[in-house]
Amino acid sequence: MPDLPPTLQIHRERCAYRLSHPMLHVALKAAFQGAVRLVEAFQTELDITVKGTANFVSSADLAAEQEIVSTIRESFPDHAIISEESHSDRADVESLWVIDPLDGTSNFLHGIPHFAVSIGYYQKGHGIIGVVCNPITSDWYVGVEQQGAWHNGQRMFVSRAGQLSQAMIACGFHYDRGRMMEATLATLADLFRAEIHGMRRFGAAALDIANVACGQFEAFFEYRLSPWDYAAGAILMHEAGGRITDCSGNPLPLGTSSGVCATTGFLHPALLEQLARHLKYFQSDETH
Ligand code: IPD
Ligand code: CA
Ligand code: CA
Repeated sequence: MPDLPPTLQIHRERCAYRLSHPMLHVALKAAFQGAVRLVEAFQTELDITVKGTANFVSSADLAAEQEIVSTIRESFPDHAIISEESHSDRADVESLWVIDPLDGTSNFLHGIPHFAVSIGYYQKGHGIIGVVCNPITSDWYVGVEQQGAWHNGQRMFVSRAGQLSQAMIACGFHYDRGRMMEATLATLADLFRAEIHGMRRFGAAALDIANVACGQFEAFFEYRLSPWDYAAGAILMHEAGGRITDCSGNPLPLGTSSGVCATTGFLHPALLEQLARHLKYFQSDETH
C-alpha cells in the first residue's frame, strides 16, 4: 500500500482557501475520505466483480463509495444521491450529489496511477460544486458556481488554442465493443485527417474533462458516459470558461447516460461537426 501523499491534504486546503460555499467543506471532506480508501487499496489484492465486457467493480470502488456517501449523509441526510454503485435517486430535486467513487477502475486494477474520485453537487439541476481528485498525484480540481475553478489552489482556464491543428484531443471508449466503438475509431481517423495536433486516451473521463478545464487538452469526447462521469467535470468546465454538451450540442442530462463533448468553446462547432458524421451510425443500431 502506498503512503498517503502529504500533498493530498495540502492541495485540498489550497483549493478550499480560494473558495467559499456552505456545502464545500463536506464535498472536499467526502472526496478526501474516498481518496484515502483508494490509496489504501491501490496495488493490493481486491475482490473484483465483472459488470459487463471490460467493465469491473472492485472492493475499492465500493469502500470509497460507502465512505463518500456516509460523509455526505452525516451532514445532509435528506439530500438525494446518484452514485455509480449504489444510489439512483431522482435527478430533478432541490439538492443532489452525483458521485463516481472511482473513475478509471481499469487503470486502478492495472496499477496505473491515473484515476479519480468525482463529486458534483447540484441544486434543481444546476451545477454548484464540482470536485475531481487524483489521490495518487494529489491533483485537486475544484469549482464553485461563479467563483471559478481551481487546480491545487491555482485558478484554471481552458486553453486559448483556436484551431483544430493546435488541438490535443482526449477521448474515451464506451465499454460497448459494437458500433459505438467503430464510430469512435472512425472519428479518430477523421480527426487525424483534420490534422489535429494529437490524440490521447487516458481512461478516466472525470480527469479527461478536468484536464480540458485546466487547459492541458483542447477537447474531450466520448460517445456514451454516465452522469457520475461528467457531473463534477461539467461544473469545472463552466467555471473555467469552456463549453460542455452532449455530442449534438444539447445540455448534459443528470438522470440518464449521454455522449459528452467538452472543448475550449471556440473549438466546439468544429468538434460537433466531426461527431455528427458518426452519431447516426450507432444511434440507429441502439434502436434495433
Ligand atoms: C470509465 C472511465 C473511462 C471511460 C468509461 C467510463 P469507470 O469510468 O471514465 O475513461 O471511457 O466510459 O465508464 O468505469 O472507470 O468509473
Ligand atoms: Ca466513471
Ligand atoms: Ca466508477
